[in-house]
Amino acid sequence: MPKEADVIGGLPSHVAIIMDGNGRWALKRGLPRIMGHYAGVKAIERTVRAAADIGIPHLSLYAFSTENWRRPLPEVKGLMNLFRYYVRKKTKELCNEGVRLRFAGRIWELSEDIRKIVREAENATAGGGRLDLVVCFNYGGRQELLDAINSIVEEDGREGAVTEEAIRSHLYLPDLPDPDLIIRTSGEHRLSNFWLWQSSYSELYFTSTLWPDFGKEELDSALEDYAKRERRFGAV
Ligand code: FPP
Repeated sequence: MPKEADVIGGLPSHVAIIMDGNGRWALKRGLPRIMGHYAGVKAIERTVRAAADIGIPHLSLYAFSTENWRRPLPEVKGLMNLFRYYVRKKTKELCNEGVRLRFAGRIWELSEDIRKIVREAENATAGGGRLDLVVCFNYGGRQELLDAINSIVEEDGREGAVTEEAIRSHLYLPDLPDPDLIIRTSGEHRLSNFWLWQSSYSELYFTSTLWPDFGKEELDSALEDYAKRERRFGAV
């Protein structure tokens, strides 16, 4: 259940972002789509810094969905290369800034070198206490639920019905609080298979800003909007 501080507004404990609009940002400039993703990485850097400065404890970013494999192969390869380059390059800096980097998704399906990069980044930043940064990569909400349910039913000696607590404790990151606020950029109004279990009572914020143009000011606007919301979690 959410903490009381979340219910009465103020700062969200977990902000989740669907980073959308990289392709359109590039198209508007006559650039290849991958350049939009490069610019998207700059927006990630600005947003992570701003979130850490503001004091948001958990930030999650939807970087690659289980459906994104359907994109043209050069774009998929470009995104994988960007991930390789960026995670390796930034690990030390994140470590110095007290940012703990974690990943959510079917990491085991990724290539061995990427799995190694993920392991090393998670180990190197494990002590970070300033911001918990979760990158959702090869992530799908339905897949996460299937993975949780399958691991429950495969457990030795399991008896009785599957409970809400059992599902929650088998999610990819069971200790991560549900997102209080989900932001989606680029004017689309969908969750697109993001945090399906966890988003039941999340506040949603949509902006027409394309992800590469996102930064501190946009984050501040979303937080200001969130602070005005009355969260009831099903109660009157
Ligand atoms: C959505 O824009 C964006 C993505 C699918 C990828 C987001 C990835 C990054 C910002 C960089 C890679 C991540 C890391 C952690 C290095 P879109 O391409 O769907 O935009 P469009 O809707 O305008 O086509």
